[in-house]
Amino acid sequence: MRSRLLDHPALGPTDERLVRFTFNGRIIEARHGDSIAAALLAIGIRVLRHSQRGEARGLYCGVGHCYECRVVVNGMSGSRACLVLVCEGMRVEAD
Ligand code: FES
Repeated sequence: MRSRLLDHPALGPTDERLVRFTFNGRIIEARHGDSIAAALLAIGIRVLRHSQRGEARGLYCGVGHCYECRVVVNGMSGSRACLVLVCEGMRVEAD
């Protein structure tokens, strides 16, 4: 794990417990309390989806305003990766 946001100003702190989820079918190991975006950024995944024109999109505001980080969480599209905390077994896909 290269970098970590250990205490998000809105979502709170992370702790040492590990949580496993998938992103586009890849198993990701995160810290309990990580947002999806923080967990992916920590392992170098910056592209969360592509626009209709094929442009890469990812974390931008980090606080739920811009919707650039939209992903599909357990089949629900439009979830903001910067606000949704990872859960064990969660399935996340590019939106
Ligand atoms: S990065 Fe802006 S809403 Fe998530």
